[in-house]
Amino acid sequence: MAIAIGDKLPAATFKKFGADGMVDIGSDDLFTGKKVVLFAVPGAFTPTCHEQHLPGFVRHAADLKAKGVDEIVCVAVNDPFVLKAWEEQSGVGDAIKLLSDGNADFTRAVGMDVALTGPFLGTRSKRYAMLVEDGVVKDLMVEDNPGAVSVSGAEELLAKL
Ligand code: BEZ
Repeated sequence: MAIAIGDKLPAATFKKFGADGMVDIGSDDLFTGKKVVLFAVPGAFTPTCHEQHLPGFVRHAADLKAKGVDEIVCVAVNDPFVLKAWEEQSGVGDAIKLLSDGNADFTRAVGMDVALTGPFLGTRSKRYAMLVEDGVVKDLMVEDNPGAVSVSGAEELLAKL
């Protein structure tokens, strides 16, 4: 069953490249005591994710943080090597943490997995955004069409904060 507003996020571990190589990032470190915007994309470098969804959050990262958001994280069912390349090519800097959920464990645990077999992407994440406070989902916007950004973009989130 998909996660809903009011639910606590499940414990999870993500991977990310840092200055010293690949590291594990646990959900406790990410969410405890913090206000976090988490958005998820079907894939690094796919057209909508690369040209619309991620750039919107890069553009509005400072605006979101000015509204009290401590951290912005992007989760994708891609391996950490691909996410490192995406981060470097997208000018993300320190504004957003791009986290690999390469085995889709978190994505399945929150019920957001989708079989994108048509375009040969395999199991990926639905496109969504959530506002998480101290590990609890306070707002959640899930796209019906994973190839479009209509409710899960940075501007939509900003308007709600
Ligand atoms: C995209 O453009 O982001 C996309 C393409 C195919 C499937 C899902 C998303």
